[in-house]
Amino acid sequence: MPENDPSVKDEKYQIRIRDLRKSFKGQEILKGINLDIERHKINIIIGGSGHGKSVTMKHLMGLLKPDSGHIYVDGLDLVPMTEYQLNKIRHKFGMVFQYAALFDSMNVFENIAFPLIEHTKKSKGEIKDVVTKALESVNLPGIEHKFPAELSGGMRKRVGLARSIVMEPEVLFYDEPTTGLDPIATKNVDDLIASINEKFGVTSVVISHDMASTFRIAHRISMLYGGLIVAEGTPDEILQCSDLNLQEFLTVSGVSVKGEARN
Ligand SMILES: Nc1ncnc2c1ncn2[C@@H]1O[C@H](COP(=O)(O)OP(=O)(O)OP(=O)(O)O)[C@@H](O)[C@H]1O
Ligand SMILES: [Mg+2]
Repeated sequence: MPENDPSVKDEKYQIRIRDLRKSFKGQEILKGINLDIERHKINIIIGGSGHGKSVTMKHLMGLLKPDSGHIYVDGLDLVPMTEYQLNKIRHKFGMVFQYAALFDSMNVFENIAFPLIEHTKKSKGEIKDVVTKALESVNLPGIEHKFPAELSGGMRKRVGLARSIVMEPEVLFYDEPTTGLDPIATKNVDDLIASINEKFGVTSVVISHDMASTFRIAHRISMLYGGLIVAEGTPDEILQCSDLNLQEFLTVSGVSVKGEARN
């Protein structure tokens, strides 16, 4: 864990969670999360179902308030912020939802243009250019006129990603972006996460169940277990980590581990 003050903007870590706790109906789900997110890198959060990954991400986006703890974004703590202050910070964020959440009654152009019309003063011509480039970035050039119902699941996710990048976010959040996709569509989405990370220099925060994807694209991996981060580091550090819950998770997921506790 880096030692410098998390309430001061740090060059390496853009987001820093400290001692985050959250209970629902008396049941403690987050039990003191400490997590650092590296700027411009792909940060992947892994862990079993129900261990608190989505709840953690919702706190990062300012959608849930914790019972206690801190979430520093560039040194500013989200936790005490008002909704007005949070809305300003959220302009740095883009979100890619599990089920793409496109508007079925709008075509692809209208779906991607929507945030630009709502939140910017760009002209029609500028918006057209941005949408064209966004569709090129997700390898779907020229499908502006199609409707969501005409697209495959993988294409819908890519259109969702195009809609997220038009607002030029600094941080992109993905909650299980490859759920429901076959291995080839999964690899396409992985490759896109990696290319968008590099092309736009964003900070990517990804929740994933898929260990093949995780080890293919992650710069940094954090494992959530029982409401705590039990391991974090580079993919190599994670493979060497001796935490038994992590090793068990990796072994069950078909990843061969090098730690000493297992043979
Ligand atoms: N708004 C809520 N109210 C009550 N309980 C909640 C709420 N949101 C999440 N929980 C509970 O918190 C726990 C963690 O949920 P979370 O969605 O973070 O799991 P997860 O790690 O994302 O799992 P999965 O991999 O299945 O998506 C679960 O037991 C869930 O029922
Ligand atoms: Mg989840």
